[in-house]
Amino acid sequence: MPNAVVTGANRGIGLEFVKQLSKAGYNVYAGYRTFSQEMEDACNGMIQPLDVSQQHSVDDFTTNLPSSIDLLINNAGVADGRWQSIEEIDDNIALEVLNINAVGPVRMMKSISEKLSDGAKVVMITSLMASMEDCKTGRSYAYRASKAALNMFSLAMKNELKTRNISLLLMHPGWVQTDMGGPHAEVSVVESVEGMMKQIGEHSIENTGIYMDFQGNKLPW
Ligand SMILES: NC(=O)c1ccc[n+]([C@@H]2O[C@H](COP(=O)([O-])OP(=O)(O)OC[C@H]3O[C@@H](n4cnc5c(N)ncnc54)[C@H](OP(=O)(O)O)[C@@H]3O)[C@@H](O)[C@H]2O)c1
Repeated sequence: MPNAVVTGANRGIGLEFVKQLSKAGYNVYAGYRTFSQEMEDACNGMIQPLDVSQQHSVDDFTTNLPSSIDLLINNAGVADGRWQSIEEIDDNIALEVLNINAVGPVRMMKSISEKLSDGAKVVMITSLMASMEDCKTGRSYAYRASKAALNMFSLAMKNELKTRNISLLLMHPGWVQTDMGGPHAEVSVVESVEGMMKQIGEHSIENTGIYMDFQGNKLPW
């Protein structure tokens, strides 16, 4: 059975990945910051505490993983203060958003790197809000900046990973009905994760570093 790791697995998109990967026959290693019974019940594998903002928590988590990981879903993330003006930006919250959304996946990569198998796939759950070209309405200052930084961290890792036959997908899940996306979002969490599972399944190393949405549409940087 292939081994998959999911961060931010206790609710939202991460929880749905745990459900669908478990049904698809993966051994799932689910990292959670807040315990949820639904995650434990759905997980075909092991659940463990994980705070991606803390290197020691990330290292404790990865120490208990098997030596061969085939799929890593870097999903954990937070929204920012939804500030309406530059004056409202809180620098401490902004740094925390950058810490979790941009540096969190880097901590995961640093810690798990040796365990990624030949042919492994790494999925960075980014956002269309990372796109420079698409930044029409502005605002969401720290969130946009954090996901743009995640995109660049990821691209900068691409060639190094490719030499080890490890491929990278930068995936926008759509505007999804979760606590973050809100009830009026366009896409159900099931539809979003079904779409991403299909894209992950079809992805090959030739397309490593692609920035795409859950339906397979290539996104503008
Ligand atoms: N929903 C959308 O419309 C949308 C659109 C584009 C991109 N995304 C991205 O999709 C990913 C999942 O979002 P979602 O909609 O499922 O959000 P969500 O429902 O708010 O869930 C976020 C998850 O991330 C976890 N998390 C937050 N900080 C963490 C940390 N420091 N360490 C470990 N886990 C942490 C949360 O744990 P706790 O329960 O402990 O807080 C929770 O499990 C995020 O990266 C988000 O930016 C979402």
